[in-house]
Amino acid sequence: MRVAMIGTGYVGLVSGACFADFGHVVTCIDKDPSKIERLNGGEIPIYEPGLDDLVATNVREGRLSFTLDGAEAIRNADAVFIAVGTPTRRGDGHADLSYVYAAAEEIAGLIEGFTVVVTKSTVPVGTGDEVEAIIRKANPNADFAVVSNPEFLREGAAIGDFKRPDRVVIGVNDIDNDVGQRARTVMGELYRPLNLNESPLLFVGRRTSELIKYAANAFLAMKITFINEMADLCEAVGADVQQVARGIGLDKRIGSKFLHAGPGYGGSCFPKDTIALVRTAQQYGAPVRLIETTVEVNDARKKAMAGRVETTLGDSVAGKTVALLGLTFKPNTDDMRDAPSLDIAPALIAAGAKVQAFDPEGMHEAAKLLDGVEMKANAYDAVTGADAVVIVTEWDQFRALDLDRVKGLMNQPVLVDLRNVYRSEDMLKRGFKYSSIGRG
Ligand code: UDX
Repeated sequence: MRVAMIGTGYVGLVSGACFADFGHVVTCIDKDPSKIERLNGGEIPIYEPGLDDLVATNVREGRLSFTLDGAEAIRNADAVFIAVGTPTRRGDGHADLSYVYAAAEEIAGLIEGFTVVVTKSTVPVGTGDEVEAIIRKANPNADFAVVSNPEFLREGAAIGDFKRPDRVVIGVNDIDNDVGQRARTVMGELYRPLNLNESPLLFVGRRTSELIKYAANAFLAMKITFINEMADLCEAVGADVQQVARGIGLDKRIGSKFLHAGPGYGGSCFPKDTIALVRTAQQYGAPVRLIETTVEVNDARKKAMAGRVETTLGDSVAGKTVALLGLTFKPNTDDMRDAPSLDIAPALIAAGAKVQAFDPEGMHEAAKLLDGVEMKANAYDAVTGADAVVIVTEWDQFRALDLDRVKGLMNQPVLVDLRNVYRSEDMLKRGFKYSSIGRG
């Protein structure tokens, strides 16, 4: 199959490289000349484990290329994917679809032969209808189908998630007529290399597919928020949230994943998608109150985390030095979007603390966003002279710290572990004042 991928952001780049690795011929298209130049020079603009090798191999074998001008690739494509950004629109929280619609306009003028136009970007219910209308209006004779195929990629594990997904959701309208059948065949062919017994292709209607994406992310965000509230309750009653998570997670109806209590969820998807779902639901007069509450509770939680440093210290942070370990919204990414550190660091600074930090991959981006935070070269430099260390993101290297060395470098041994990386008993034995999340 010939694939044109519009947008070389996170989703477009991972999907493009993985489709190429499945054996398809993929052209990735972007309007940003510096991005295309970097990609053509072999440089991957994002940090994602395994992606550099995957891109290099497929470029070398002639299945993957990058271009500013996608006209030819779109003309020749069996499937054109729209994988552009859908940021939160300023002011009203709806998803901003201007990039999606601009891509539809561009595709409309170029379609030749039967083409499946696939929305990969996370788009509100009904966007596929709009994309179809745009193309139909601009090119009434075009032979095409618009399909929804949401991604469920976790940053840091995106290649595995693409190649071994729990399921692939494909939204095709009028599956019983000729166009629907042809679209189904193209999509089936694209994903054929998956072991389809293990990773079923779920064919549903287009609006259903669009909603599945939001429902999945909202459910996961709600699950995290649920365990975070349980963690607070555990602290109040003297229970252990990790044992509660295990105790409920072994019930298959609940499941053990996404029950790690922490400082609140962040990232490029959950915050944006939960708000967009809330807005869509309000617009249709069918409010999703659980998700409205999830958004509120999570926002408040991230803001409250800095307060835990004072509680653990037993004193104000004014005039104290606080070290943050980890700044990205989760490990194995350089993504800072909606990271809890963006709430924690400014709150500490506002309370009079001096803040110094280290993150293995995120410091370049973090430096632009975190005014007044001193970035250090490694974890040990970051903790030097600190009155409190806060583990904000659970990078593996923070699980394996030389704790005696850390203690020796600090001004006083106070550790606030927002990811429950360490065990209370060990830390107390080592002489740390230690607090974690939801463990009594
Ligand atoms: C998420 C979805 O998992 C993915 O399917 C979707 O397509 C995009 O959004 P991602 O944002 O990359 O992926 O990260 P994820 O691993 O889901 O974590 C999101 C946030 O939740 C992070 O801030 C993480 O720290 C937090 N989290 C996750 C918890 O606090 N506890 C958990 O148990 C799991």
